[in-house]
Amino acid sequence: MKKNVLPTCLSLLAMVSTSVQASGQLPGGDQTPHQTPQRPRITGVSHACFYTGDMARTAAFFTDYLGYEIAGDGLSIPACTIIKFNDRQFIELFPDPENRRNNAMHYCLETDDTEAWRRYLLARGYDVPKEPLSPGRTGNLNFFVPVPGGVTFEIMQYLPGGMIAATNGKYLPAGRVTDRLGHVGFMVDDMDKVNPFYTEVIGLRETWRGGMRPDIVQWVHMKLPDSPNTVEYMLYDSPPSQGARGVMNHICLLVSDVDEAQRILSTRTLPEGCRNAGIQLGADNLRQINLYTHEGIRVELVEDHYVNGVPAPSSTGRPLKMAANN
Ligand SMILES: [Fe+2]
Repeated sequence: MKKNVLPTCLSLLAMVSTSVQASGQLPGGDQTPHQTPQRPRITGVSHACFYTGDMARTAAFFTDYLGYEIAGDGLSIPACTIIKFNDRQFIELFPDPENRRNNAMHYCLETDDTEAWRRYLLARGYDVPKEPLSPGRTGNLNFFVPVPGGVTFEIMQYLPGGMIAATNGKYLPAGRVTDRLGHVGFMVDDMDKVNPFYTEVIGLRETWRGGMRPDIVQWVHMKLPDSPNTVEYMLYDSPPSQGARGVMNHICLLVSDVDEAQRILSTRTLPEGCRNAGIQLGADNLRQINLYTHEGIRVELVEDHYVNGVPAPSSTGRPLKMAANN
């Protein structure tokens, strides 16, 4: 985990390191041995964030080709461009002129009680803020947790007076290809390292695993506890190139009809250097279109139902993982 992947635009809070020690220790405040906090809710995928070496070109992929709009009203600033999919889900783009961060990303899940999450994680020994949170730049409550073996994870609660709420109904043009962010996929170098956090602490539940070969698991779908949204572990066993990072760290936009989505896109000009890989059938038995920005950031357009209504069976293969000395 590299600490330099942190954004600066959405948080007043410094990134915290995680001491992953099952502690049983009690948090501060009014907790007692009989009041260890219960797990708060995770109500959806909020957003994913990518670095780009050319903000204008990357933003144009989302606006001119996919039909979205850069959010105004102070949400987007030079250090952070925000593009909404709907009133609760969006993407953040951070400038990295020399593109030294290889599109590295973090992602964020939404809750209705960030402060409860802070207390809950503190009670389990995680090194999260010790004091109650204050609203960040956008007027919402959030904090970050770097996950060993995975990417940085953020929890956010939209406040009624925050800037996200203030743009409700705005920056949502009729021509956008879809209004649903279904999942984010992120690099995981060893699922055995991240699972204790994501399953036991966050409450994710595995629903499917598979890969391009039946004997190898490359992708693992994890459902959020209080939402139909998922996250996707993208497993690997060797240091990935920038291109591979762009394939693994990705977002999934859900569509009801992938043929119709492709027809809409065919009426628009694919920006120079970007790619539309056409309609394919995924190993999970969902039809999809893989799109790539000129820097290789991947956006999946995935149909929201299985071909013939039948999900593909989960793989019994071996999950990829990085060797301990890599
Ligand atoms: Fe995916």
